[in-house]
Amino acid sequence: MERTFMMVKPGAVARGLVGEILARFERKGFRIRAMKYLRLDRALAEEHYAEHREKDFFNNLVSSITSGPVAAFVLEGPEAISVVRKMMGATNPMAAEPGTIRGDYGLDIEANIVHGSDGPASADREIGLYFREEEII
Ligand code: RTP
Ligand code: MG
Repeated sequence: MERTFMMVKPGAVARGLVGEILARFERKGFRIRAMKYLRLDRALAEEHYAEHREKDFFNNLVSSITSGPVAAFVLEGPEAISVVRKMMGATNPMAAEPGTIRGDYGLDIEANIVHGSDGPASADREIGLYFREEEII
């Protein structure tokens, strides 16, 4: 069993897509180990996307992710990290395959619906950023 961090981004929350997106992961068989509704402050957003600090889209990314509340989850299942990424689809929603979340719900790369950890180290790091040990059940 593996755990990953998944987040429904502000644009998708505003569009009322939290339930639909979470339902896909539940139907797939993932277990919800933790969930939280919150608004990221700038410090948490910069920490979350620290790997992109030098990119020219960094400021837009931080503005976008702090623009409204998000829904954050720890999901658990076999190969959770790569399976969740596969279900999310490509970063660019115009390239994301139909049937994936990004392929089905949007066209905007900066509001690309969901985030998922991209490897075991980021999963551990991101789960720790959003959840205390006792919040993971
Ligand atoms: P995420 O971290 O949000 O799950 O997305 P990802 O791994 O698929 O993509 P990543 O390379 O980590 O990029 C993080 C987020 O930055 C925005 N982005 N904008 N304007 C651009 O060229 C550009 N490239 C990336 C996207 O919102 C992406 O999800
Ligand atoms: Mg990423």
